[in-house]
Amino acid sequence: MSFGEKIAIKSRREIEQMREIGELTAEILLEIRGCARPGVTTGELDEIGVDALKKRGLKSPFLGYAPGGVVPYPAVLCASVNDEIVHGIPGPRELHDGDIISLDFGAVSINGESRGWHGDTAVTIAIGEVDPEAKRLIETTHDALEKGIERMVPGDRLSDIGFAVQTRAEKDGFGVVRQFVGHGIGREMHEPPQVPNYGRPGRGPRLRAGMVFAIEPMVNIGSEKVRVLEDEWTAVTADGTLSAHFEHTVLITDHGPEVLTRITGSH
Ligand code: MF3
Ligand code: CO
Ligand code: CO
Repeated sequence: MSFGEKIAIKSRREIEQMREIGELTAEILLEIRGCARPGVTTGELDEIGVDALKKRGLKSPFLGYAPGGVVPYPAVLCASVNDEIVHGIPGPRELHDGDIISLDFGAVSINGESRGWHGDTAVTIAIGEVDPEAKRLIETTHDALEKGIERMVPGDRLSDIGFAVQTRAEKDGFGVVRQFVGHGIGREMHEPPQVPNYGRPGRGPRLRAGMVFAIEPMVNIGSEKVRVLEDEWTAVTADGTLSAHFEHTVLITDHGPEVLTRITGSH
């Protein structure tokens, strides 16, 4: 992962291809979301992702992902339940009434020999009936994502996005995770720049039409502190409180943000 370098400006042709992969990525995430209910395992949700990618001739940028030589990620989906923030590894865990789960899914197109384009998107949903506090966390995190996206306007500064996200989440008294950030996306899943979900406004590079970022707030009911489990991937809240996560791949245009992974009004 190389951050802090030049931010790519995508050409019209490249944007067309990113629209395509964005739409397909969102379509698959919605299919997975539709299957999440009590009794289903996170491993079964991963299988749905595997089949959906295969059917469309796409690959997973998650499977085998190993930045800096860490343990390769073993699935196509990140399924993070309750106090898990991100990078929950799918397996035999069954979903129960009252759980919340973040489903984070990515896809990459294959264009003959040349490297394809990436889509990356996540939702957090309630399984059955959840506590009002869990519901509020999910709604606020979704709203924080939308507030960040609204700032993706040419001429604004990079840190205006994170400032908007943080302001919205903290208004409700929640903790904004610092340890993981959003990112540029294109030929690589993670491209420059890093896009933190916090910070002071008016800093960093100016936003320009043709930039594409994955915006992904992670918000905890309690402290923003993170702990990583022994599997070396699963990130959980240090204080055991619930966490929510939403993500969209978003293009900056002359007319403002264009969400490339939006399919329905609800995500
Ligand atoms: N989709 C994650 C992100 O939003 C990255 C997942 S990497 C994996 O940046 F290896 F855990 F899949
Ligand atoms: Co993601
Ligand atoms: Co991402």
